[in-house]
Amino acid sequence: ESIIGARKADHIALCASGKVEFRGKGTLLDEVHLVHDALPDRHLDAIDLGTTLLGRRLAAPVVVSGMTGGTPEARAINRDLARAAETLGLAFGLGSQRAMVLRPDTAATYAVRDVAPTALVLGNIGLVQAREMSSASLRELVDAVGADALCVHLNPAMELIQPGGDRDFRGGLAVLERLVRDLPKPIVVKETGCGISRRVARAVRDIGVTAIDVSGAGGTSWVGVETERARGEERQLGEELWDWGIPTAASVGLIADLGLEVIATGGLRNGSDVVRALALGATAGGLAAPVLRAQRAPEGGGYEGALAFLRYVVSGVRSITFLTGCGSSAALRSAPRVLGPALRAWLLDAR
Ligand code: FNR
Repeated sequence: ESIIGARKADHIALCASGKVEFRGKGTLLDEVHLVHDALPDRHLDAIDLGTTLLGRRLAAPVVVSGMTGGTPEARAINRDLARAAETLGLAFGLGSQRAMVLRPDTAATYAVRDVAPTALVLGNIGLVQAREMSSASLRELVDAVGADALCVHLNPAMELIQPGGDRDFRGGLAVLERLVRDLPKPIVVKETGCGISRRVARAVRDIGVTAIDVSGAGGTSWVGVETERARGEERQLGEELWDWGIPTAASVGLIADLGLEVIATGGLRNGSDVVRALALGATAGGLAAPVLRAQRAPEGGGYEGALAFLRYVVSGVRSITFLTGCGSSAALRSAPRVLGPALRAWLLDAR
């Protein structure tokens, strides 16, 4: 049990340090070039960033992606980030609620509804854990935190590197089908840094899933995180697979026409990245590690630090939307853009 606590502390420290980003592979969002409009006929403040995600209204298309829970430090992070999301009208994701299943006394570290009464809050559980749980228990997990939806995270690459990680991934699609059927709240199928292919997106769409968080390659490498914690053979494989995955921009572009709500997470670091993801067809952009770093900054961190960083992201989204000549975040989907060769190759060959 305290093993989970130690892992969580390791995860937070490693992700905040910047040592576990992808090394030789980027998001390919830098290959999305938006066309400048020199004659934008509107006031900057008239840009409409309002977005509907999972049936809820966001003030801007930005999600604080799920990170943590289970320890006192995690509680402070969750509360600061949820409060900042509430202030700005953004969405907030909790980290894996597995700790809460194993140790119900950690529930308070996931409690954010008192500081985020109206924000879109996302619960979180791993697919492999969900497989071992009854639908009734999963429903309780969602209700206990007052979540509007449940992210079910897929992380096979990370599990292969994690000491004692899972090796048996059978029956995943059937578990998702059961959850779609049995839970009163929507399910978001979420990767954790390796991206979602078109084949996987179609498969989950065909069993009734309506939202995907691609969590693609180019930002935090969860293989990297577990590699830093592994020894011996697993560490060696981790070094080899550090950059494994579908770049975030490619993943978004590959699934954009499937009629799903798409959250683009993985390596987004500012408003430009969010706007480029929206131009590829995403509904919203998600950020994890950079928000954590803002909250943990030795000076000016905490709630204020997270708030200031998220304000900067949203203001960037507004400015860049304006410079493309679009009047709303929704209009970005059809904004003119030029795609670079590597992204084009992914979009053609990975279909
Ligand atoms: C994460 N991430 C994550 N994802 C998930 O579904 N459940 C989880 O418990 C966690 N835990 C977690 C902890 C920390 C400290 C970080 C930084 C991240 C993954 C996260 O939601 C996101 O998909 C990836 O980190 C990629 O986004 P960034 O970090 O590149 O913006």
